[in-house]
Amino acid sequence: MSRRNKIYEGKAKILYEGPEPGTIIQYFKDDATAFNNQKKGTLSGKGVVNNHISEYIFAALGNIGIPTHFVRRMSMREQLVKAVEIIPVEVIVRNVAAGGLSKRLGIEEGTPLPRPLVEFCFKSDELGDPLIAEEHVLTFGWASEDELDDITHYALRVNDFMSGLFAGIGIRLIDFKLEFGRLYEGEEVMTVLADEISPDGCRLWDMKTGEKLDKDRFRRDLGGEMEAYMEVARRLGILPSADITELAEHQQKKEG
Ligand code: TYD
Repeated sequence: MSRRNKIYEGKAKILYEGPEPGTIIQYFKDDATAFNNQKKGTLSGKGVVNNHISEYIFAALGNIGIPTHFVRRMSMREQLVKAVEIIPVEVIVRNVAAGGLSKRLGIEEGTPLPRPLVEFCFKSDELGDPLIAEEHVLTFGWASEDELDDITHYALRVNDFMSGLFAGIGIRLIDFKLEFGRLYEGEEVMTVLADEISPDGCRLWDMKTGEKLDKDRFRRDLGGEMEAYMEVARRLGILPSADITELAEHQQKKEG
């Protein structure tokens, strides 16, 4: 690890220079943060589980024709991705009211929305990722009109795919956050899905029990974060069961 050149360290991941020009290694950490970094913690094994969940979803999205930065998983905590210029807009897709939307508009958590809602936030830790309109994106040139069209189109397709994927394993996809980037290939610039998709940036509720299987367990001090993340991985049929057992034992030892 130490031989690699660090490009950037974020809240949940470290980016290193990749083996070839135009590639980056995403290293998934165990750090968890919420409420714009005010709440911090470590969830042992989270990086491993999120790396595998994100690999699974990005590969599946690639297979249905959604362009992504993902190349391949390299190790338990690392994946190789194409270097992109991140568009500074967080894209949130919601199927059911929860979190920020419920607070902002006084809609009870769990109320189904009549249609998927796509929201945009300006990616700025300093400002706490404020909600913005498409007009802000265009006015300040954060993305072009064509890019915004691509982003909205892909975000809705990702939502369709992921809603079905999770419904198939008894999980309701409440909402999630996506990030997109510009991939420069010769003369061409493509809008591609970037970052990660994991229970850190989704709300996932068990369909039968309503149990939360996502970062709200951490945000709201519900406990059992790793068990929930591993349950999502287990239902997706990823992570060899030995790894899951090992992670669970590790977590138990830490807690005990
Ligand atoms: P939202 O309800 O807007 O915010 P909060 O997490 O403060 O309740 O979040 C909607 C979904 O998007 C939720 O699954 C968490 C995810 N999200 C992130 O992962 N990162 C972010 O910076 C934001 C704003 C949302």
